[in-house]
Amino acid sequence: MATALIILAAGQGTRMNSDLPKVLHQIAGAPLLHHAMRSGAMVEPERMVVVAGHGADEVTKAAKAFDEAVDVVIQAEQKGTAHAVLQALPALEGFEGKVIVLYGDTPLIRPETLEAMLSARSDVVVLGFEAADPGRYGRLVVHLGHLYRIIEYKDATAEERKITLCNSGVICADAKALAKLVRGVGNNNASGEYYLTDIIAAGRVAGLTAEVVTCPEAETLGVNSRADLAAAEAAMQARLRAEVMENGVTLTAPETVFLSWDTVIGRDTVVGPHVVFGPETTVESEAEILPFCHLEGCHISRGARVGPFARLRPGAELAEDVHVGNFVEVKNSILDEGVKVGHLTYLGDAHVGEHTNIGAGTITCNYDGVSKHRTEIGARAFIGSDTMLVAPVTIGDGAMTASGSVITDDVPENTLAVARARQVNKLGLAAKLFELFKSRKEKKQEKAQ
Ligand code: UD1
Ligand code: CA
Repeated sequence: MATALIILAAGQGTRMNSDLPKVLHQIAGAPLLHHAMRSGAMVEPERMVVVAGHGADEVTKAAKAFDEAVDVVIQAEQKGTAHAVLQALPALEGFEGKVIVLYGDTPLIRPETLEAMLSARSDVVVLGFEAADPGRYGRLVVHLGHLYRIIEYKDATAEERKITLCNSGVICADAKALAKLVRGVGNNNASGEYYLTDIIAAGRVAGLTAEVVTCPEAETLGVNSRADLAAAEAAMQARLRAEVMENGVTLTAPETVFLSWDTVIGRDTVVGPHVVFGPETTVESEAEILPFCHLEGCHISRGARVGPFARLRPGAELAEDVHVGNFVEVKNSILDEGVKVGHLTYLGDAHVGEHTNIGAGTITCNYDGVSKHRTEIGARAFIGSDTMLVAPVTIGDGAMTASGSVITDDVPENTLAVARARQVNKLGLAAKLFELFKSRKEKKQEKAQ
């Protein structure tokens, strides 16, 4: 059956204490909103509608960045969850099938959970969970497998507050039934809001059935504060780490490795402690990431060895068996097969040919204060330690640069470039200088007394 998705994302998120709309705060390298949209997208909805309000411009941009085809509707004033769903109805005009309502601030709902809701038989299906501490959640009144109504905490009696089966906020219902029920919701309650939860009791009066599908409480975690955001990050990281390990990746100390939602790591790759994967990073099989690396927007090929303490920035592409060692930064550069860049180096806007060795302390001087320039280094070249490559510059295949050179002109292939002052040895002068300096110091000290 066809499905559609409504994602509520109009709320202010006051407790975040932030200028950024709540749903745009990130976990695992993507905004909360994208996580909700992604798990919703897994059930292959025919339409997706995001309800924006606070920070609508930014939220719209983010929603469109996820999927250009998504509809964004504006809820100018936040009058409650039913009122929010009401705003989405025109965008679902003509749609027949099931509608799932998700919250943009609830990033951990699994697609499997949504599938279970879609398979349930009742007209309205609510995602519930057994709460360790039910707090201010809406309570689910269930009898013999049927859901009778949802009572908001504020409106519940002391007896009703004892119920521990709570409302996650995720609801799935037939599109036509949902539209009809939502239009009928009033705001005669403790907060004066239009509660989406009221459609259960109203549905029963209209002869519709309702039931609860449950999931672990961890999935329903909604973000209202920075502390919640950190908890959501932790839960998402735990999930992502488990996934990569299942795929055959060794994480020596999984709790210290941070992954992005889109991190891909191949089988038999070993990732040491304290490695951070930013967005858009892929690592092939049998690579080795040593401790304390920061990797983002980069690709690491089979058999490559990176770190410890390496930083790969967007556009860094390491071919097979490349070695990038400690305190090396690589940005927007392609390193061909077998390149070695062992220590203390910056490679930016460069191409390094296969099996070239880059000596310690090499820097591509790629920026002149206004524009970026490229450095081309050929294959089987040897860049001496502490070479400054002032771009734009080209080093030919098999060429060498002498240590400490400042290379401003192209170096033809198989050529040695020496670009530093010639050394002069002055015999005995060091000893004389030591004497001179010592006597000066003594005179100063005598004066001071
Ligand atoms: C809601 C549920 C409650 C459930 C809880 C789970 C209702 C009436 N109550 O309560 O039963 O236990 O979620 O977290 O539905 N939003 C809008 N527009 C609005 C109002 C809300 O887009 O006018 C969005 C918010 O941005 C948020 C979500 O809907 O993402 C939930 O709203 P919130 O006000 O947090 O609902 P709760 O009071 O937590
Ligand atoms: Ca909430």
